[in-house]
Amino acid sequence: MNVVGPPFGLSVWDPALDADLRAGIAAVEEGLLEATKSDVPFITDAARHLLQAGGKRFRPLLVMLGAQFGDPHAPGVIPAAVVVELTHLATLYHDDVMDEADARRGVSSANARWGNSVAVLTGDFLFSRASHILADLGPEAVRVQAEAFERLVTGQILETVGPRDGRDPLDHYMEVLAGKTSSLMAVSGRFGGMMSGAGESVVHTLTQFGERIGIAFQLADDVLDIASDHHESGKTPGTDLREGVPTLPVLHVRKMYARAGGDVSADDRRLNELLDGDLTDDTLHAEALALLRAHPALDIARRDSLRYAEEARAALAPLAECPAKAALAGLCDAAVHRAG
Ligand code: IPE
Ligand code: IPE
Ligand code: MG
Ligand code: MG
Repeated sequence: MNVVGPPFGLSVWDPALDADLRAGIAAVEEGLLEATKSDVPFITDAARHLLQAGGKRFRPLLVMLGAQFGDPHAPGVIPAAVVVELTHLATLYHDDVMDEADARRGVSSANARWGNSVAVLTGDFLFSRASHILADLGPEAVRVQAEAFERLVTGQILETVGPRDGRDPLDHYMEVLAGKTSSLMAVSGRFGGMMSGAGESVVHTLTQFGERIGIAFQLADDVLDIASDHHESGKTPGTDLREGVPTLPVLHVRKMYARAGGDVSADDRRLNELLDGDLTDDTLHAEALALLRAHPALDIARRDSLRYAEEARAALAPLAECPAKAALAGLCDAAVHRAG
């Protein structure tokens, strides 16, 4: 079994595809190093802090697999993969400020290490470098990326402000997810198709695939925020919980509680009481996390992520059978069965 891009394990059974992806990932890494180099040594350090700490390179992988449906060695493929990873990286710097996260990719978050201003500005620096590369890929690529970025930012803002009065919290949450995570995954699939010169219908299919796998991926991320430990995820467990960011398991807990109409266990009552309060206190946070880990809502959220992964797999149907299609199907499993 061959594995591309440690620590993320995607099984690729075709030796030619495997070699292509390995070469592609190596070229992307080179491009990322180049793009994070500044004349100011501190900026280079700050920009490479998370870059070199790890990361699954899931989005570049999507670009490169999408490109297999056209000419995978077309000149725009690797730069496009660099653009999506740089954009993703920049959003991580900003997201950790928003979520007051102290760890990312197994190291201190940039905000924990240098403060919010440096973290925000380093994110901006990465966006500017992504735009620079994008400019050479043509106006259509710039437009596609701009639209996705608008969706991503809108998703992050909608998460911050919460659902408007009367809106179902789960519907709101799904809209947030599509914006903050699927937007960039959809662009990754789309860029792979576009840059390799694949036909219009293939580009459409790859875009839809990215859109759906993004949902599954983020649902799995929400489960991991509760269930995994720092060693596996490289992040601090319960970060969303501490910040009061409602994620799928929590939304399920609340919905089940409301439906039960008071007929609940003592643990359930206590958990909902905790969720209504301030969870920045370490003891209360640990208690809520333990109760959530034992709650059936976590398994319901897990099953939701598997269902969306199946939807992503189904979106691949129009593509011709080939090793790249099999690898994209494998990516659906990897997105939801990962440990970090
Ligand atoms: C984290 O993305 C942010 C989400 C959209 C869930 P990844 O899980 O792809 O993070 P890295 O790049 O592997 O660190
Ligand atoms: C990440 O959302 C989305 C973006 C960075 C755009 P989360 O806040 O849920 O991701 P993690 O868990 O911190 O990686
Ligand atoms: Mg976060
Ligand atoms: Mg967040």
